[in-house]
Amino acid sequence: MTASSSPEVHHLRAAGSSLVLDARGTGVPAIVHWGADLGALDGPALTALADSQAPAVTASSPDAPLRSTLVPLAADGWPGLPGVAGWRPGEPDDGAARRPAPRQVRTTSAGDALRVVLADPAAGLEVAVRLALHEQGVLEISTTVTNAGTTPYALEQVVSTLPLPARATEVLDLSGRWAGERSPQRAPLRDGLWERETRHGRPGHDAPFATVVGTPGFGFRAGEVWAVHHAWSGDTAARVERLPSGHTVAGAGELWGPGDVVLGPGEIYTSPRTLAAWSDDGLDGLSARFHSWVRARPGRAERPRPVTLNTWEAVYFEHDLGRLRALADAAARVGVERFVLDDGWFRGRRDDRRGLGDWTVDGTVWPEGLHPLVQHVTGLGMEFGLWVEPEMVSPDSDVARRHPDWVLRAVPGREPPLWRHQQVLDLAHPDAYAHVRDAVVALLEEYPIAYLKWDQNRDVLDAPSRPQVLATRRLMDELRARFPGLEIESCSSGGGKVDLDVLDRTDRVWASDTNDALERQAVQRWTGLLVPPELVGSHVGDARSHTTGRTHDLSLRLVTAVFGHSGIEADLTRATPEDLEAVTRWVRLVKEVRPLVATGTTVRADTDDDCWVHGLVTPDAREALFAVVTRAATRAAVPAPLLLPGLDARRTYRVERVDLAKPPLVVGDALPPWWAAGTAELPGTVLTEVGLPLPPLAPEQGVLLRVAST
Ligand code: GLA
Repeated sequence: MTASSSPEVHHLRAAGSSLVLDARGTGVPAIVHWGADLGALDGPALTALADSQAPAVTASSPDAPLRSTLVPLAADGWPGLPGVAGWRPGEPDDGAARRPAPRQVRTTSAGDALRVVLADPAAGLEVAVRLALHEQGVLEISTTVTNAGTTPYALEQVVSTLPLPARATEVLDLSGRWAGERSPQRAPLRDGLWERETRHGRPGHDAPFATVVGTPGFGFRAGEVWAVHHAWSGDTAARVERLPSGHTVAGAGELWGPGDVVLGPGEIYTSPRTLAAWSDDGLDGLSARFHSWVRARPGRAERPRPVTLNTWEAVYFEHDLGRLRALADAAARVGVERFVLDDGWFRGRRDDRRGLGDWTVDGTVWPEGLHPLVQHVTGLGMEFGLWVEPEMVSPDSDVARRHPDWVLRAVPGREPPLWRHQQVLDLAHPDAYAHVRDAVVALLEEYPIAYLKWDQNRDVLDAPSRPQVLATRRLMDELRARFPGLEIESCSSGGGKVDLDVLDRTDRVWASDTNDALERQAVQRWTGLLVPPELVGSHVGDARSHTTGRTHDLSLRLVTAVFGHSGIEADLTRATPEDLEAVTRWVRLVKEVRPLVATGTTVRADTDDDCWVHGLVTPDAREALFAVVTRAATRAAVPAPLLLPGLDARRTYRVERVDLAKPPLVVGDALPPWWAAGTAELPGTVLTEVGLPLPPLAPEQGVLLRVAST
């Protein structure tokens, strides 16, 4: 990362990208370039660049050149969405507050960051925007708004706004549903507003996740792309706006209702971070930048990710010490390192209709507490993990009966809609917060719990989500400070809470409740746009998926669960000896390759949708791991040759097919020689440019390839 300035034109550079901010004069500064690295521009060259970017004044437009500034505002002639909006309640004539016109007070540069301070004395507002271009190439933007007036100021919206060039004409973002999270959608950009809102009080299964705008036809390996992610676990609006004037901007901010955020005199609102990145190597280039940034976050768990067994799909609510001990025995035998007891262990929790909030161990099912199980698990050399859902409460619980006012409600006395038979516990209520904190602390003190699977199975619909999100953050912070080394997983009915804010306090996400390997391939592919694989839980499920009813060969299930924080979500006590042997081989491989998974660069080939190829390549390109997955019967009788992206053209590699279970099913007899031999040795150029012939693979097969430089 480097920064230079001239003295009022600032240039941030990192990881092959540049951002130039024109902060001359007293107007709101404007980003005049965000994209490819411009080289070591400074001094007069920077000024010349900024001068050259002054747009023409067209007919029927403001007389001053119209620029998309850091905080676009009507007061500067901007006809699009404003960067900051609000009003002073009870002061209907206060036009200044409703139409703020802040001017620049100063812009300062420190390290990789710029801080722009704006003020509008008439409106009684101060706005400060911080821009940091981190060494990994991730741009971080956050905004503070200070009510410098003498009466309350109600914020309507605060949006981080970034300019996009005219050649960015295609938008891709994600949508989804339970058990089908982060499903991509693409559209040509047209004049107007492309807006995605999440009103779940959590990102939700349909979260836009990332808004990517790029040159036509951009793919995983090619195209110029700009991406924006709003790092926030509550309601959000993500936007791309193209104006007929020729301006295109991308932005994101929290989504509020009227009066949700009211600043008292002197109070400050600090926005969540908007994280953005540019790449001219397609989506893989974006992932490389986001992954390195996430991997560098402070406080992350650095040790190898322990192979996990989660009990949910093995036993559901049927908690029985004997059965769980047997499951732990089977887990330890195949090499599992962390045993996680899922939902069903606390008072009254025999099904999902009751018990949330009563966070003490159920004495009828567990007369000696969890001790016999925990001792058994740790005695087998495994860590113990526990499922909790601290933000929720069941109406059928002692805590709800005793403290009905702790249930989050829009209107006192009006019951919010039930969702999975549960309500939200108002964590902004100090007593409710203390109750949950103390209960979780008591558990963490009584048992050697290494890991919490932290779930949230209901939307927060009943009140503004911001206080709940902030309280949850605080609770995680308190627990992590008190129990150093405690790991947390962010789960939310599967993958309903996956964002780069929650990952500041958690060590992995549960990307989806679907363990159907093919569905999981899709969820992992797109979760991997921002989140590196070692932070995405990926478990081998039963042959017949519990969510789709579809049956998959063990090999596809094993291959899929290598590319993540690997685990098992099945009843191993019922597995055949043959399957147990395969799972044992898989666990051995997972342990061998996890350093690669934890540091590798994610690569995804631009193939037809019938056959996906993805992999992880070490930063020095000496080693790699690839998966070939047929999602359907291949379109062509003989599939296209397999190209392995990301390898170094100057090296020679040995490619080895690893069959952990039964080999992938092939339709046809004569196999390509390398496939029959199970191995090939070829130059990197051949592997990346010519490819390896594939046999006609049957649908829904998974092939694992290990690649090493010779
Ligand atoms: C949610 C989670 C599951 C499981 C159940 C338990 O649905 O996503 O993995 O923990 O809750 O009730």
